[in-house]
Amino acid sequence: RVVAVIMVGGPTKGTRFRPLSLNVPKPLFPLAGQPMVHHPISACSRIPNLAQIYLIGFYEEREFALYVSAISNELRVPVRYLREDRPHGSAGGLYTFRDYILEENPSHIFLLNCDVCCSFPLPQMLDAHKNYGGMGTILVIKVSAESANQFGELVADPVTNELLHYTEKPETFVSDLINCGVYIFTPDIFKAIQDSFTQRKDRANLRRTTSFEALQSATKALPADYLRLDQDILSPLAGKKELYTYETRDFWEQIKTPGMSLKCSGLYLAQFRRTSPILLAGSKGSRSATIIDDVYIHPSAKVHPSAKIGPNVSISANARIGAGARLISCIILDDVEIKENAVVIHSIVGWKSAIGKWSRVQGEGDYNAKLGITILGESVAVEDEVVVINSIVLPNKTLNVSVQEEIIL
Ligand code: GDD
Repeated sequence: RVVAVIMVGGPTKGTRFRPLSLNVPKPLFPLAGQPMVHHPISACSRIPNLAQIYLIGFYEEREFALYVSAISNELRVPVRYLREDRPHGSAGGLYTFRDYILEENPSHIFLLNCDVCCSFPLPQMLDAHKNYGGMGTILVIKVSAESANQFGELVADPVTNELLHYTEKPETFVSDLINCGVYIFTPDIFKAIQDSFTQRKDRANLRRTTSFEALQSATKALPADYLRLDQDILSPLAGKKELYTYETRDFWEQIKTPGMSLKCSGLYLAQFRRTSPILLAGSKGSRSATIIDDVYIHPSAKVHPSAKIGPNVSISANARIGAGARLISCIILDDVEIKENAVVIHSIVGWKSAIGKWSRVQGEGDYNAKLGITILGESVAVEDEVVVINSIVLPNKTLNVSVQEEIIL
């Protein structure tokens, strides 16, 4: 039997995601029309012999209640949200709920970060992991040398794939092979976490008896029950024949900013073409608007037949798209109204916002730049014939003049 755990973090972690995280926890923000966490969950649901999926985080329980019950029914896999009272770090959070996770007596435990976007090749990882015979296998990918320092950089044996060296976000370049935040472990991982806690306590005790200065630095350190998987567990276990790597050659991105969520929405839409084409607009041969692949339109949204939509557009519930509107590379959230002949490009339009006739809401499409896309928060009104370029507009604002490269507070 197999259990999957998805780390969803909590409110303080989502600050780079503002203003979108003001309304909804980041893991529930829609990508390709489905909550971010839906994509790893649906990948987990395809693992043979999966007994249970746990989401571990420190958001309020009620924020996830509706979603977990709906998705459990839909996928016929029990999905449960487990709430930490405060952050314990990625390994500490897992350890906190060890009794729940071990209840099913699993032979293997998948552990996934919620904020990564990839094809989640989980069954292939499981096969590779069984062949290696170690305690854990990490999904890894090659990225450009310039971007590698935002991630855990690692060195693996080219023949055996053993993890030989691991450094989390190093200041000087180590390797262009990075940690994707997707793992499979045997239950021995809990023993490794326990050992790490014990060693930390021993070190702290030793310091306490040696010098006053050390005592001060020890008390300033992280809380005793806070442990990070990468720095505190993976790093020290490298080169000990315990950890192995599985390299993906498919797509992989990390979703820390709204710009990246727009990019990842497009990657998931493209994946739907292979995995769930029924979710894509145009697949049912309706007499609707002109669609340029790939596009998701919620069944309750109303799109005028003369509108032209796509590529990479996702339109959520009850949105209304007027005659002659043109939408390219954007996420349109619930209850948005886009009036006649408005244009939206490389933008995210927040819940209940309205865009006036002949208006233009646009970003340049640099997903990594702070103002590379335009973001309208909840209930923003853009009046008729107004142009908004590369800007972030906080909730409840009305724009009656054009703006460019601005953050409207
Ligand atoms: N429940 C819970 N509790 N979740 C947490 C906590 C915690 O205390 N701290 C972090 N997480 C979750 C985050 O929401 C995220 O899904 C995951 O754990 C990892 O978050 P971080 O520890 O903040 O690391 P990171 O995202 O900056 O980098 C990690 O992931 C990269 C891949 O995306 C590292 O493992 C990198 O090496 C890796 O490249």
